[in-house]
Amino acid sequence: MIKLINAKKSYQNGSVTTDAINNLNLEIFKDEYIAIMGTSGSGKSTLLNVLGGMDVLSSGQYLFEGKDITNLKGKKLDLFRKKNIGFVFQNFALLDQYTVYENVELPLISQKVSVGKRKKIINDILVKLQIEDLKNKRAKEISGGQQQRCAIARAMATGAPIILADEPTGSLDSKTTKEIMDVFDQVHKEGKTIIMVTHDEEVAKRAQRIIRLEDGIIVSD
Ligand SMILES: Nc1ncnc2c1ncn2[C@@H]1O[C@H](COP(=O)(O)OP(=O)(O)OP(=O)(O)O)[C@@H](O)[C@H]1O
Ligand SMILES: [Mg+2]
Repeated sequence: MIKLINAKKSYQNGSVTTDAINNLNLEIFKDEYIAIMGTSGSGKSTLLNVLGGMDVLSSGQYLFEGKDITNLKGKKLDLFRKKNIGFVFQNFALLDQYTVYENVELPLISQKVSVGKRKKIINDILVKLQIEDLKNKRAKEISGGQQQRCAIARAMATGAPIILADEPTGSLDSKTTKEIMDVFDQVHKEGKTIIMVTHDEEVAKRAQRIIRLEDGIIVSD
């Protein structure tokens, strides 16, 4: 599904160049559930952003379903992202003043899905993630675990096959973390490919494959 070949991403800060990921070779298959681990600054978020088309490589190649998408830019890159990727963040990144329903609706509006279809898709997902009774509450009025469920619902709304998550349980307590991990298990069983950055070994155990990074290099897989 995904192949990175000699993938490198460098950041320039004045005269200092940091290779956030360095000549990575990585293949990811459909329906995998992968945890990415490593110390702070090892390149985990950079890798996730590259995979999600939020960032482009400095050198090397990114193949998606056999197509070279390394040099996609602008609208084409946006389209790739919208079609294929759902993102979940540590801080949930919801719009506080919007309701749960409206937050999940946003990516569907951006894809120009009709009102009627949106309603059906959103209600189905909210039931699945057990937050249908919260749909008219504003994001700021619900708990952290409920906010993360909402963010996962939003990531799934467009039907994107890949869910990328950067420390999705990083700001949750241990009980809520378990609940959210159960949600990810369920999402995975439904046929999504999940790639998750985590510091938490317990969280990583849920994955089928653990990739460890150090200084931008894969040290175990
Ligand atoms: N936009 C940027 N500009 C300059 N340097 C950056 C940028 N983003 C990341 N870096 C550098 O690249 C390296 C990898 O960063 P990255 O954010 O991928 O690490 P991480 O493994 O996600 O760390 P953490 O666990 O703290 O989130 C770090 O040295 C970081 O300082
Ligand atoms: Mg990070």
